[in-house]
Amino acid sequence: MRVVRTVADVRAALDGRDDVGLVPTMGAYHTGHEALFHTARVESDFVVASLFVNPAQFGDEADLAAYPRDEARDAAIAEAAGVDLLFAPSLEEMYPAGFQTWVEVEDAARGLEGDARPGHFRGVATVCLKLFAIVRPQRAYFGQKDAQQVAVIRRMVRDLELDLAIRVVPTVRDADGLALSSRNARLSPAERKRALALPRALAAAVGAADPVAAAHAGLNGLHPDYVELLDLDGATVLAAAARVGPVRLIDNVLLKGSLQ
Ligand code: PAJ
Repeated sequence: MRVVRTVADVRAALDGRDDVGLVPTMGAYHTGHEALFHTARVESDFVVASLFVNPAQFGDEADLAAYPRDEARDAAIAEAAGVDLLFAPSLEEMYPAGFQTWVEVEDAARGLEGDARPGHFRGVATVCLKLFAIVRPQRAYFGQKDAQQVAVIRRMVRDLELDLAIRVVPTVRDADGLALSSRNARLSPAERKRALALPRALAAAVGAADPVAAAHAGLNGLHPDYVELLDLDGATVLAAAARVGPVRLIDNVLLKGSLQ
């Protein structure tokens, strides 16, 4: 695996390739990221991962500062998972002086995470469009865990006629059912126990006549930011978010259809 830091080096490494899979990430790899790398590896001739903690999608300076960064560890994990090229640009490479162009996806970025995190999806859409333009992949891989992110990116791809497929990889969970997230490390053992109500409530809602009500009923005292149905190209997921201690957890389950 090669590590490159500039757009010019990505372009040079990819020259002439026409079967490229891109996995955009912010690092702090866990088994969820590895699942994306493995899927990309199976489906694509050449796999690029990007590693960039994107300030534009963080509303909170403290959250950005606390985001875990360990490039050497991440590079070793990416290499073992079959990534061919790791693009780890500097802030200046992605947002050089004078940068002033932003992608605003409208309805898909409203409600749910969009309401809780103003500006978040503007930052996500902009950095993803930029990564798509730099790497020009045939496929890009995203996790079901961030279901609204998938909806926003798919909308952007369609609206701007971007010529790539958005592939969705099912959420990877710990043995106790909690969806893997780099932020889970901040939960105390007691908080983690309380957090399990979220995946359990969502799982219990699958097949219920009123899934939103069933999820609310199963939350075991957790106060959700939202429990809502989200449409993803004909598939329906039930998505929820709740704060437990210092962590805002998000999760979802598929109720109907398929995410591929
Ligand atoms: P990040 O949080 O690093 O996540 C990178 C990818 O891993 C996302 O597509 C996310 O949905 C997926 N992922 C995270 N946890 C997962 C899990 N438990 N199971 C399966 N997939 C999981 O999401 C981002 O970065 C950024 O917004 C990004 C798209 C890179 C733009 O900056």
